[in-house]
Parts: sequence; structure tokens; C-alpha cells
Amino acid sequence: MNSAPIGIFDSGIGGLTIAHALKKTLPNENIIYFGDTKHLPYGEKSSKVIQTFCEEITKFLISKECKAIVIACNSASSVGYNTVKKIANKIPVFNAVEPIIENLHNKVNNNTIGVIGTKATIQSKIYKQKITEKCPSAKVCELATPLLAPMIEEGFINEDICQIVIKNYLSNEKLNSIDYLVLACTHYPLIFEEIKNYYNDKNVCIVDSARIIANYIAKELKKRLLLNDQKKAKYYFYVSNYTNSFEKSANFFFREDIKLEEVQLTNL
Ligand code: DGL
Repeated sequence: MNSAPIGIFDSGIGGLTIAHALKKTLPNENIIYFGDTKHLPYGEKSSKVIQTFCEEITKFLISKECKAIVIACNSASSVGYNTVKKIANKIPVFNAVEPIIENLHNKVNNNTIGVIGTKATIQSKIYKQKITEKCPSAKVCELATPLLAPMIEEGFINEDICQIVIKNYLSNEKLNSIDYLVLACTHYPLIFEEIKNYYNDKNVCIVDSARIIANYIAKELKKRLLLNDQKKAKYYFYVSNYTNSFEKSANFFFREDIKLEEVQLTNL
């Protein structure tokens, strides 16, 4: 059981930022990654359709005998967590939202917290709801930033256009006077430095989601005595639609060369 893999899924290859952080934090763990490249972007889809995708992917990860399921995608975490939990039954399920809320809970007080993510994530208001529950004195300001994910996927990072798009979004009056900025999307850890540079010496703390999520999962698996003590971890990367360009981006998101394998899920 402890040597069973951790199943991670995302709408595409963005969740590889979380898989990479997890690999660094828990180098002994076997990982099965599934990227639903056939249906991305989830950020533009309705809750209902995202839940259907989550259902099929969870069944796939269960068929691979995963000991835990990680919803790396923020859009899927926001609207599909209960769907995944129901199907996973006793298998622990981790989403991308809870670890951030726990992290903020330990540090915020009367602060203003900005949240950026896809339309699906922001429209779900999940961050506002969860942060307000845990930290009632905090103020939460959310902004959908849908251009960021495709821009990052296309590799426009060290370019002027990246700075222009970041400035355009982050100068929005909704995000005026924030103390924290939550990067509520799989892709955003890759522009952490650019966002930090935008704020420059203003006192805004940028919440580095991938690292926080990986640490949270490590802590929870340890608590449940589910960690793998055998060395030599194996990694499998599946996608619902294979293209060379996805593989190229996957290498960039995972920060090492990986091979993607296409798998067709029955009802997807
Ligand atoms: N993985 C998605 C998320 O974190 C971003 C890409 C998409 O919209 O599918 O919300």
C-alpha cells in the first residue's frame, strides 16, 4: 500500500509544477500523472462539465491503485473536489485550495488577500469563502486572469509581453492595497519572479502555491502513515491527447525531460 503511487491530475500539463514540487519534497514516492489535454482549458468550462471530467479521471487513477489523489488543477479543485471525494471513497483526496487556506490561516490577521486564477476558480468564489471562514478579519479580493495560463504555456515568460500582461492585471483596482497575493493556478509558480518584480519593493507577500501544496501533502501522508520508504521512485505521465508541443511544454513545466503517453478514458 505504501509503495502504491500518488495519483495527480490536472486539466493539462500545468499541474506538473505541483508534481515537480512533490517529487522534490517526497523523492521516494511513485507518481502517476494524468493531464486532460483533450479538454483544457478547464478555466473556461462550466462546473458541471469539469465535474464529469473529474469523475472519469478519478476512476482511472483508482484503476491504477493510487494510494492518494491530488487535484493539482485549481479550477477542478474549486468545483470538483466533492465529486472526486465521493468516487475515491476511502482514498485520501487533496486539492490545491486547502493547503493555501491553512498556510494563510497561520499568518494573516486584518490583512487584504488578493487571489488570481482562471475564470472557473474565481467564479466559484471558493477562496473568498474558505479564507473568510478561517480568517474572518481578512478581506479577500479576487480577480480572474485568464490570459496568464496560455501565455505561460506558450513560453512567453522572459518577454516584454509577459510584463505588460502582468502589469495590466495586477494594476487592477480590485488588487489595490493587498498584503498577500495567492497564485491560484497551476501555471503561475512559473512567473513567480516576474510577479515579484512587478511589486518590487511594495510589501506584498506572494504565496508560492506549488511548494505549499507539496509540503501539505507530505505532512498529511506522514500523519496517515502512508509514506513510501522504498527508494527508486517511478513516474508515469499520461495525457488524454498527445502532441509534440504538449510534450515540449511538459518538459518545461516539470523542469526535466519526460515522456507523455496518450490514454483514452472510456467516457471522456
Ligand atoms: N490547470 C488550470 C488551473 O489551475 C489552468 C489551465 C486551465 O484553465 O485548464 O486552474
